[in-house]
Amino acid sequence: MARVVFQHVTKRFGTVVAVDDLTLEVEDREFLVLLGPSGCGKSTALRMVAGLEEPTEGEIVIGDHVVNDVDPKDRDIAMVFQSYALYPHMTVAGNIEFPLRSRRVPAAQRKELVDAAASALGLEGLLDRKPSQLSGGQRQRVALARAIVRRPQVFLMDEPLSNLDAKLRVQTRAELIELQRRLETTVVYVTHDQVEAMTMGHRIAILRDGVLQQVGAPQDVYARPANLFVAGFIGNPPMNTIAGKVVGDDGGLAVGLPGARVPLPDGIVAAVRNAGVEEVVIGVRPEHLRLDAGGIVPATVTVVESLGHERHVACRLDDGTLVIVRQPSDQAAPSVAGTVHLATDAQHLHVFDAASGDRVGAP
Ligand SMILES: Nc1ncnc2c1ncn2[C@@H]1O[C@H](COP(=O)(O)OP(=O)(O)OP(=O)(O)O)[C@@H](O)[C@H]1O
Ligand SMILES: [Mg+2]
Repeated sequence: MARVVFQHVTKRFGTVVAVDDLTLEVEDREFLVLLGPSGCGKSTALRMVAGLEEPTEGEIVIGDHVVNDVDPKDRDIAMVFQSYALYPHMTVAGNIEFPLRSRRVPAAQRKELVDAAASALGLEGLLDRKPSQLSGGQRQRVALARAIVRRPQVFLMDEPLSNLDAKLRVQTRAELIELQRRLETTVVYVTHDQVEAMTMGHRIAILRDGVLQQVGAPQDVYARPANLFVAGFIGNPPMNTIAGKVVGDDGGLAVGLPGARVPLPDGIVAAVRNAGVEEVVIGVRPEHLRLDAGGIVPATVTVVESLGHERHVACRLDDGTLVIVRQPSDQAAPSVAGTVHLATDAQHLHVFDAASGDRVGAP
């Protein structure tokens, strides 16, 4: 078992900074998800732990050792890729056994380990097949079995589910969570899918252009995103954002929004004053907005999407800003082109500095 630490790690490819001064500690037996859009440096970060890329600056620690100069094969890690990369001419058993053979594990022990890994992933009945005779989900399970067979200290997974169809992905997601719990291994898991990150990670680390934006438990990141980028990346539909100006309000502060003035809750007022910001962006999650005759922000309904269990009501504010309201389907649907009023509760307001995008107030 081992922790994985990035200490001020930077990776440059020529002029491209793929990973920019990353400092992050993955705890022993933690399931940490590296999340971010395409090109943000997720795979590069993972590949540096595996030893497939060398950091330009900084140190990678596995367990208690700096591994920058340690060969990939001596790092006691296993990596699973999006492309299963199975050997097509070998059987399932042969593929799972391969890492043991290349480490010269005795035959009797190999068989035992292969059987254990195969049974952990429900592959017992498929050991004699070739990869071409398997479904995509089964192939990915073989790749996972091959990764766990050596019982490495750390699993590195790079979008391992993205080749699977939606249903299989949900199922394999649950299996992976269970597997990690059973094996008690440290996992660093790369994905651009925020649902995977929210459901699988003990903690999520969000990267943007190689720069770490926020690390935290899924619920904490969801409830208190550190900046507008994280706010927009986590949650579907994403958090609504509305630009406004801070104004005095009867001793307190309010934000002037299109068509309305929204008083800021006391908890945020001091932070806004301290930060000295005037131009802000107000964030409200779609599930925290209500269509309510007593609401203070007027809007015009543009689209009503019914998803069965809920509706997504798209509305435009007076200045054209689009906002989405998640509405339980047992409430009356608004009519398209009709005027509605939006309400929320003060504790659900997020305030961001419009210039920097950073959250104002406690992270
Ligand atoms: N070998 C390389 N040579 C040059 N540039 C590279 C190399 N590998 C990665 N990059 C660049 O580094 C940046 C980060 O790439 P990386 O593969 O880590 O992104 P990613 O977050 O994994 O993206 P994706 O979700 O698309 O897989 C990108 O701009 C990419 O073009
Ligand atoms: Mg990648």
